[in-house]
Amino acid sequence: MTTLTVNGESRSIKASPDTPLLYVLRDELGLNAAKYGCGLGQCGACTVIVDGKAVFSCVTPIMVLEGRKITTLEGLGSVDAPGPMQRAFIAEQAAQCGYCIPGMMMRAQALLERDPHATDATIRTELQPHLCRCGTHMRILRAISRAAEEMKSKAADARTER
Ligand code: FES
Ligand code: FES
Repeated sequence: MTTLTVNGESRSIKASPDTPLLYVLRDELGLNAAKYGCGLGQCGACTVIVDGKAVFSCVTPIMVLEGRKITTLEGLGSVDAPGPMQRAFIAEQAAQCGYCIPGMMMRAQALLERDPHATDATIRTELQPHLCRCGTHMRILRAISRAAEEMKSKAADARTER
């Protein structure tokens, strides 16, 4: 039995320790935001955040994740209370088929958490491992910049209140 911390909750996992995280998220925990695209670490559809870093869950066995903090898109907000990244993607209508979007959002979230002032050039470079077959790249970039603005102003408000 492996114990994982997913979106702040401790979960006991029955799958064998060499099972990739993506299968555990989708098949055992019912967290379906992360998608299977290539299964080879080449498309970004399965991206989640582990200890603040974007990780391809399709090639990451759960045995290396005990004691680490895993965040999936479900951990950024809900349908009723979407987080800043999710709100920005909705506002910019950045999804066409939507398959690539959860992975894009998770890598962008990890970037902005460590560098809220990331430039457009940095955002573009960071998102390079992600493929979008629909070609909505410009909307995706606009959504991430929008999320960055909201996250920056929230951080500034929090500093003012201290
Ligand atoms: Fe993991 Fe493509 S499904 S990188
Ligand atoms: Fe369809 Fe990106 S919106 S793959």
